[in-house]
Amino acid sequence: MKPLQSIVSALCLAASLSAFPALADSKNNTELGFVGSQSCAGCHDQQLESWTGSHHDKAMELPTKDTVLGDFNNATFMYNGITTTFLTKAGKYIVRTDGEDGKLTEFPVDYVFGVYPLQQYLLPLSKGRWQALSIAWDARPLNEGGQRWYHLYPDEKIDFKDPLHWTGPYQNWNTRCAECHSTQLEKNYNAQSKSFNTNFSEIDVGCEACHGPRPNTHKPGREKGTGRG
Ligand code: HEC
Ligand code: HEC
Ligand code: HEC
Repeated sequence: MKPLQSIVSALCLAASLSAFPALADSKNNTELGFVGSQSCAGCHDQQLESWTGSHHDKAMELPTKDTVLGDFNNATFMYNGITTTFLTKAGKYIVRTDGEDGKLTEFPVDYVFGVYPLQQYLLPLSKGRWQALSIAWDARPLNEGGQRWYHLYPDEKIDFKDPLHWTGPYQNWNTRCAECHSTQLEKNYNAQSKSFNTNFSEIDVGCEACHGPRPNTHKPGREKGTGRG
């Protein structure tokens, strides 16, 4: 499934060129104060309405029966001699797959990532890392070849020693994905302990990911219809 992956790579690349100017000077973010997409309500209801439920709204979400698209009903997927199982336990979504040491291990799905044409799953590792599993769910309809698990590197044999493995640096959410898929990202990498304490003001691509934090001058005294001020 190279085509799907190249679509997404292209989208991700295009985004770096256009849609996220605010992230360039993220140092200033905390000073300016992000207030969150919902606080744009009342004045920009039209924009809020078209954003709600959009791919930006769904760029990253907690796993629930509404947000998880993949088959976690003990579905299995075979890659490079390893059988990965997608299951649920006590309402939690779990992936049993090869971990950092190559051994089969159960990981909870902490977040879902993206929605269409494919969805990925973020699994936790030590030191505050989240990693994007390389077995993705093809969210396209059945008659378009979708509704199945597939590997993003189908023709290679990536094992746990490979930096492209889901536990490796290339699939690390903190450094490789987060700043485009969430708002006001703070990576918070501690070089000494080699650990992350990453956080964001909004889990998904909120209004301020593109427009920047609203300066205080924007809100007070700026009534609906009073024009720019
Ligand atoms: C109290 C009302 C109010 C709130 C809350 C508000 N805005 Fe605005 N905003 C305005 C007004 C009024 C304008 C000017 C509209 C016009 O010129 O037609 C505006 C214009 C804008 C524009 C157009 C460019 C500009 O700066 O003039 C953007 C983008 C924008 N707002 C984003 C946001 C975002 C994002 C939020 C939430 C974080 C937000 N606004 C919250 C009232 C508000
Ligand atoms: C992925 C980036 C992105 C996100 C997310 C986003 N916007 Fe925008 N928004 C834009 C761009 C780009 C424009 C400029 C459109 C144009 O000039 O035609 C714009 C234009 C606007 C304007 C100016 C009036 C208009 O419609 O052209 C307002 C107000 C606005 N956005 C508010 C919001 C609010 C409120 C949210 C969240 C609910 C939001 N935007 C989310 C990129 C974004
Ligand atoms: C430079 C910004 C950027 C980076 C970095 C980035 N993405 Fe994306 N990603 C995007 C944009 C933009 C889209 C398209 C959103 C849309 O559908 O409009 C996207 C789409 C996706 C989708 C497809 C689902 C969907 O909703 O369209 C997945 C899955 C995804 N990204 C995963 C990742 C993973 C995993 C990483 C890190 C390894 C990553 N992305 C890094 C910007 C980025």
